[in-house]
Amino acid sequence: MAKIAIIAGDGIGIDVTAEARKVLQEINRLESLQIELVDFDFGADYFLKTGIALPEGQIEIFRNEFDAILLGALGDPRIPDMAHGRGILLAMRFELDLFVNLRPVKLLHEKLCPLKNKTIRDVDFVVFRENTEGEYVGAGGFLKKNTADEIAVQEAVHTRKGVERIIRAAFEYAVEHKRPKVTMSDKSNVLRYGHDLWQRVFYAVGEEYPKIEKEHFYVDAMLMEMIRRPEHFQVIVTENMLGDIVTDVGAMLQGGLGMAASGNIHPGQTSLFEPVHGSAPAMAGKNIANPIAAILTAAMMLQHLNFASAAQRIENTVEAAILNHQVTQELGGSLGTREVGDYISSRL
Ligand SMILES: NC(=O)c1ccc[n+]([C@@H]2O[C@H](COP(=O)([O-])OP(=O)(O)OC[C@H]3O[C@@H](n4cnc5c(N)ncnc54)[C@H](O)[C@@H]3O)[C@@H](O)[C@H]2O)c1
Repeated sequence: MAKIAIIAGDGIGIDVTAEARKVLQEINRLESLQIELVDFDFGADYFLKTGIALPEGQIEIFRNEFDAILLGALGDPRIPDMAHGRGILLAMRFELDLFVNLRPVKLLHEKLCPLKNKTIRDVDFVVFRENTEGEYVGAGGFLKKNTADEIAVQEAVHTRKGVERIIRAAFEYAVEHKRPKVTMSDKSNVLRYGHDLWQRVFYAVGEEYPKIEKEHFYVDAMLMEMIRRPEHFQVIVTENMLGDIVTDVGAMLQGGLGMAASGNIHPGQTSLFEPVHGSAPAMAGKNIANPIAAILTAAMMLQHLNFASAAQRIENTVEAAILNHQVTQELGGSLGTREVGDYISSRL
C-alpha cells in the first residue's frame, strides 16, 4: 500500500508523466500493489493564475499523508526566473530535507551509448549527489548592482553533518548492492575549505567500511575518466553543483536526457522522484518527448517503496521496448510519447 502524489508540472513534464502514470496504474493492477495516485496541478499555469507556487501547508501534507511524490518537470518561458520552480522543487528538496539525489547511470542497450565499443556492462554506476547544501542554498548578494563596480558573492555551505550523511549513504549503498568501491569527487585542490571538509569526512567515514575501496578524483579528472573508461566507476559521491554536472554527463552515457531517472530521497521519509530532464518547452504537447526517463523514474520510486518485483518488471519491459525499437525518434524509433507508454504498459 502506498499513496503517491503526482505533479506533472510544465512542458513535456505533462506529456511524459501521463505515460509514467499509465504504467503505474497497470503495474498496480497486475501486482495488486494497492497504490493510490493523487494528481496536483502545481506548475507554471497554477503560479500565473494564483501568484503562488505551492499553497501554505502543502509540503506538510506531502510529508504527513504521502509516501512519495512523482514530478514531471518544471520550467516555462513565461516565468524566465523560474520563481515557481524554486517555490516547488527547491522548496520540497530543502523542506523535506531530501539530502540524497540518487541518479543511476545505467546503459540499457549499447546502441544508446555515444562511446565506441562500450557495452551495458561498462556503463553501470550510481551517483550520490548532495542535495541540500553547496552553492544551492542561495547565500550571497550583490553590491553596487548594475554598475561598472558591481560585486556578486555566491557562497557555498558545507556542514559536517550534511557531508557526513551523504557520504555514509553512498557507503551504505555500496555495502547493500555489493559494489566494492566508492569514489568521492571534489575540487579540493582549489576550494581549500569546503572541499577540504569533504576530503576529511570521506576518509573518516570510510574507516567504518574497511571492505570498501576508497577512491578520490578531482572533478575535472573524473569527468575525463567517465568518458574514457566508465566501467571504472561503481558508486560516486559528490557535492551539489558538481553532482548536477556529473550526472548530466552520466545521462549522455546512458542515451541522453530522455533515459535518465533520479530520486530526491530522505531515507525513511516522503521522497520525490523526477526524470533528470527539464520541461523542454519546444517539444511540449507534440507527442514527441521520450517518456522512458519518467517511466524508469516511476520504477525507481516503486523500488524505493519496496515494490521491487514491480520495479524490475517495468525495467525489463523498458529494455524490451528499446530492443524492439519501440521508442521515440530521439532514440531512432518512430513512435510518439503516448505510443511508447502504451507499448510498455501493455507488455508489463
Ligand atoms: N528538474 C526540472 O524540473 C528541470 C531540470 C532541468 C531544466 N529545467 C527547466 O526546463 C526548461 C528547459 O530547460 P533545458 O532546455 O535546459 O533542459 P531540458 O532538459 O528541458 O531540455 C534539453 C534538451 O534535451 C532534450 N530532451 C530533454 N528531455 C527529453 C525527452 N524526454 N525526450 C527527448 N528529448 C529530451 C531536448 O532536445 C531538449 O531540447 C527550463 O525552464 C529549465 O529551467 C527543469
